[in-house]
Amino acid sequence: MRSPRLLEIDRQDPAALRVELLRDLAAFPAVVAPKYFYDALGSSLFAAITRLPEYYPTRTEAAIFTRHIDEIAAQLPSGLTLVDIGAGNCEKAARLLVPFKVRSYVAVDISVDFLGDSLARLQLQHPELPILGVGTDFSRRLLLPAEAGDGERLLFYPGSSIGNFAPAQALDFLRQLHQAAQGGGLLIGVDLLKPVAVLEAAYDDPLGVTAAFNRNLLLHLNHLIGSDFALADWRHVAFFDAPQSRIEMHLEARRSVKVHWPGGQRAFVAGERIHTENSYKWRAEDFTAFLGDAGFSGIRCWTDERGWFAVFLGQAQRS
Ligand code: AVJ
Repeated sequence: MRSPRLLEIDRQDPAALRVELLRDLAAFPAVVAPKYFYDALGSSLFAAITRLPEYYPTRTEAAIFTRHIDEIAAQLPSGLTLVDIGAGNCEKAARLLVPFKVRSYVAVDISVDFLGDSLARLQLQHPELPILGVGTDFSRRLLLPAEAGDGERLLFYPGSSIGNFAPAQALDFLRQLHQAAQGGGLLIGVDLLKPVAVLEAAYDDPLGVTAAFNRNLLLHLNHLIGSDFALADWRHVAFFDAPQSRIEMHLEARRSVKVHWPGGQRAFVAGERIHTENSYKWRAEDFTAFLGDAGFSGIRCWTDERGWFAVFLGQAQRS
């Protein structure tokens, strides 16, 4: 049996990361990048979100793959490398390895620690599959190591994670995916526009799991920068902004509070917010055109019967 190889690349200087985080916290309005949701507890809370009755994206996307897997597989060249962007627990990609006759698997995530366990488990299921784990903050810049091979790659970016990017950044990111594909393609899941009540329930569930996921960001910050955010002072706010076609998540101060950290502090008045996430919702036609703008061709799209979620496949011809 083989064992997974793990690499960390393009690592940011922790001091520079801290400066950037403190700058964003000091801004008006304060903002924290959504990558900071995913400490160990945050990743578990996200896994719990995907099982909530109100959070339709994960199960809708899974149903699209189940239903159309053979048709999708038929579009792909044989012997490709599957590159899973934001792999996490690797569960989504695991279901594609056999139908897509994948030659090697590359899992990319911000945390190589989290990948180690997921990949060891995956290797047990696929003893002879070459597996590479890459730890890198791809939200800044997507670089892949030479170890990921020089053949055609299928970039896999499921779950509508592209929704975290505003359109201009999303276009830039799609172009980086196109480049990284080395003449292969992109398989991407995108959440679609739908009635506001459905969208808002998915990001403000009655069990409070999404609220816990959002508020846990403050615990992660306390750990990272030594701040003293008190959870009781902050409430979860999520709403759909129609003009920008996005769900916004914020943490709102319940009263006026002062937060301290080594070397600094910040006062928040009652009702003041920290912007923690955007989740853009697309029209399928618009996203198809957008993939074309990013350089992809031969675009195919599969959706569910309600038209709530879409999976796109695009080819990345070498230019
Ligand atoms: C992981 C970015 C796709 O936007 O739906 C879920 C994150 N935030 N509930 C999303 C999330 C709140 C999720 N993505």
